[in-house]
Amino acid sequence: MKTFDHRKYRPVPAVPLARRTWPGRIIEKAPRWASVDLRDGNQALLEPMSVGQKRRLWGLLVGLGFKEIEIGFPSASQPDYDFVRWLIEEDQIPEDVTVQALVQARDELVARTFEALEGAPRAIVHVYNSTSTVQRERVFGKDREGITAIARHGAQLLQREAVKYPETEWVFQYSPESFTSTEMAYAVEVCEAVLDVWQPTPEQPCIINLPATVEVATPNLFADQVEYFATHISRRDSIILSLHTHNDRGCAVAAAELALLAGADRVEGTLLGNGERTGNMDIVTMAMNLYSQGVDPELDLSNPDEIIQVVTECTGIPPHPRHPWIGELVYTAFSGSHQDAIRKCLHLQQPGEHWQVAYLPIDPKDLGRDYQAVIRVNSQSGKGGIAFVLERDYGLSLPRWMQVELAQVVQRVSERQAGEIDSAAIHALFLERFVVDQAPLRLRGYRLDRDRNDAIEVSLEEADGELVVLQGAGEGAISAFVDAWVRHTGQQLNVIDYREHAIGEGTDAEAIAYVLLNIDGVRVAAAAFDHDTVSASLKAVLSALNQARTQRRRAA
Ligand code: KIV
Ligand code: ZN
Repeated sequence: MKTFDHRKYRPVPAVPLARRTWPGRIIEKAPRWASVDLRDGNQALLEPMSVGQKRRLWGLLVGLGFKEIEIGFPSASQPDYDFVRWLIEEDQIPEDVTVQALVQARDELVARTFEALEGAPRAIVHVYNSTSTVQRERVFGKDREGITAIARHGAQLLQREAVKYPETEWVFQYSPESFTSTEMAYAVEVCEAVLDVWQPTPEQPCIINLPATVEVATPNLFADQVEYFATHISRRDSIILSLHTHNDRGCAVAAAELALLAGADRVEGTLLGNGERTGNMDIVTMAMNLYSQGVDPELDLSNPDEIIQVVTECTGIPPHPRHPWIGELVYTAFSGSHQDAIRKCLHLQQPGEHWQVAYLPIDPKDLGRDYQAVIRVNSQSGKGGIAFVLERDYGLSLPRWMQVELAQVVQRVSERQAGEIDSAAIHALFLERFVVDQAPLRLRGYRLDRDRNDAIEVSLEEADGELVVLQGAGEGAISAFVDAWVRHTGQQLNVIDYREHAIGEGTDAEAIAYVLLNIDGVRVAAAAFDHDTVSASLKAVLSALNQARTQRRRAA
């Protein structure tokens, strides 16, 4: 029997929405963020967090700027209960932060939840029950009226318990769990029953949270569902409309973004997307999406390495290296054309102007990443990346013709070693290939007489110690040296290109000279360093002559 059979499934029905407005909108401000790391995230771990780990994660969430934090399910778990008590008794909740606790619509659980929250200055109690057809028919065996009765009863329980603790400012939240698989008209109906009990006002609103408990459709359908809900529910001005998406289809962030356009005010999620199954909506991703559009995310995400460290320590789940915005490899370019484009754009990017760098949607420095990691070289890389790392790490601005030749050398080596090649290795290959000014010939000294058409006398030492003195003249030291060499050897020698630049600053800065010569019909590129620029240029020519001589000997 065939097991991989798509006919087993059916599509989610379209939402009866005649004129949707969300596609024409854009997100202009951050939603109210609510972290559910300490509940939804914690519930999804093989080994739930210890109280110590919860404290650590709490500290991180407060530090990042979350103002609403679901701290657990205190009626269902003793560690959650203890953690809530610790927060309250040890006065750990900043004035501008509201804690939230989740509970099912059951008498003893609701009572215990309020007991756990006793003494909190302000708290959200979040009650939920499942409303979808499958849950109604196959899990609870109840009709719509029966399910609505559970919701209504839950709402009444919250009201009843809240009056027992008047020193706390209570906010009520209701979730029709499995909202995305609920008929929309019924989702509105069940929430109306809850609102009838709570009677929220614009001054004292309640939160209605619409969960994609399981993500079952494309994000546009979720947005339609939310727009339907937002435009059919009564007392809209007395409701904070919240979203809680999961990532079963990999679209939790997109679904929350579109649903925000559709009228939601608040988004629940977790750092780096931890949570049941494929996880919750990743708040870091969504907040960074806003940031990259010039919208203040109202969370301080400037130190993602801290987020990664704390979340990994608390959940035991490290992020993928290609995790959006914060993964180890997301600001790295291996491809030659990408490297080339990045290098050019970074050169042109001016302080204070809007970010305009190809392949880098934001400046990695904003997240504490430096350009060290941006360009890495493997066999897929081209001259751009190689030029970038040599310039960045060694202050060398290679001419294009030398970049091309070095790229071939680097590619051969990285193919041989089948992996990344670091900047020190690239530098070593550059020296080995182009800076050959010590053998077989080396420069012992020179005298340049600028008054007599740049007459030059150059002393060279052969490998066996023999001294050779050459004389020539020309326009500039290089052409005078070339003239001397041609007179001495009778070789054909032309200078095709010559460049030099200082490395670093100050009077004792070293210079590097690059030459491209044609020696007896063969092009040879070479380079050399010296504190004296004339010496650097003579040595560069010598590097080329040495290369040619060695090649001739090898060929002979
Ligand atoms: O995913 C979900 O439906 C939930 C609810 C309790 C809001 O976590
Ligand atoms: Zn959830």
